[in-house]
Amino acid sequence: MSSPARVHLIAAARPNFMKVAPLWHALKATSDFQPIIVHTGQHYDAAMSDDIFADLRLPAPDHHLGIGSGTHAEQTGRVMIAYEKLAMEERPDWLIVVGDVNSTAACAMAAGKLRIPTIHLEAGLRSRDRDMPEELNRLVTDVLADVLWTPSPDADENLIAEGIPANKITRVGNIMMDSYELVRPSIEAADTAGALGFAKGGYGVVTLHRPSNVDVPEKLAELVDALIAVQAHLPLIFPVHPRTSQRLGDEGRAKLEAAGIKLIGPQAYIAFMSLVSGAAAVITDSGGIQEETTYLGIPCLTLRDNTERPITISEGTARLVKAPALLEQLLDALAQPKKDRKRPDAWDGKTAQRCVEDLRKRTFG
Ligand code: UD1
Repeated sequence: MSSPARVHLIAAARPNFMKVAPLWHALKATSDFQPIIVHTGQHYDAAMSDDIFADLRLPAPDHHLGIGSGTHAEQTGRVMIAYEKLAMEERPDWLIVVGDVNSTAACAMAAGKLRIPTIHLEAGLRSRDRDMPEELNRLVTDVLADVLWTPSPDADENLIAEGIPANKITRVGNIMMDSYELVRPSIEAADTAGALGFAKGGYGVVTLHRPSNVDVPEKLAELVDALIAVQAHLPLIFPVHPRTSQRLGDEGRAKLEAAGIKLIGPQAYIAFMSLVSGAAAVITDSGGIQEETTYLGIPCLTLRDNTERPITISEGTARLVKAPALLEQLLDALAQPKKDRKRPDAWDGKTAQRCVEDLRKRTFG
């Protein structure tokens, strides 16, 4: 029997790990493919990386590039240099990049010039907001990728409109739901909120980390006031991202705590999904959480001007909200009757299987 095709999977930052894990498990279960995890080190704290690897039953990465933090060009450049070296040594049969972080675009660029066939998982999402660094990463990655694995019909339409040939595109569905299903029993057994003294359904969860929200002091101050107004109606638990913690400073954190908002550190995957699945509502600027709340049928107040995931509004539980309207929108969302909502097509926990089938066709014909 010939040796398995070697597949580099790039894991870089927290939201990547839930996309890499199901694929790693599915590839590992075949004899056709050998998945090789390359961690660029864009996120490096245990809470932002190792703990999530452990929750998702991922082994330690096969390669660690140790890139760390920096400006966009520094981080992207360091990943390109380090990944090019590894890719030249290993010459994988495929590179798979996921999501939209700096490492995603950097590895796609390095591999593209080495003519290593590259797949983008979660291709085609567009916010049409070039103030978002992730939008530039999405555009660069999709134009370079040889195969584009999309989560939803809007993504296919975006790619076709940009001139990507249809035969490069396969709609595989939303891989994040595979991670949820992979560890669902552990999520259901965990009671993160209970351990903090909150009753199921009696609290809201907040996450904030987008530069457009937290790097502009006036915007952040406005958000702090909006959260304090919400706290008077719904007790809030707020796992604080390192970027946001730096921007809030001691003063900002003290103000939120004085209002009664429960600040905790970044959570690993199982503890965090336990928090979300027991919440009355979620207030967030994350991409992935808009999708997870849609999957779970939990109202999501998306604190952004736009979203690259419009299906979370058209078919899901999310709405775009600005800080001054947060309380009013939250109360309105909570007052809506819970509909029996159909999940978006192919958000079913079987995306990794569809990826492996497509990869098999494209590798062996
Ligand atoms: C990155 C991604 C963003 C993703 C987010 C999830 C890009 C452009 N941005 O943003 O798309 O939604 O990850 O978290 O790729 N830090 C730590 N420990 C860590 C990592 C970071 O303390 O493990 C601190 C550093 O001081 C760093 C700051 O957090 O400067 C921001 O981290 P960075 O990776 O630059 O961007 P994120 O905001 O996390």
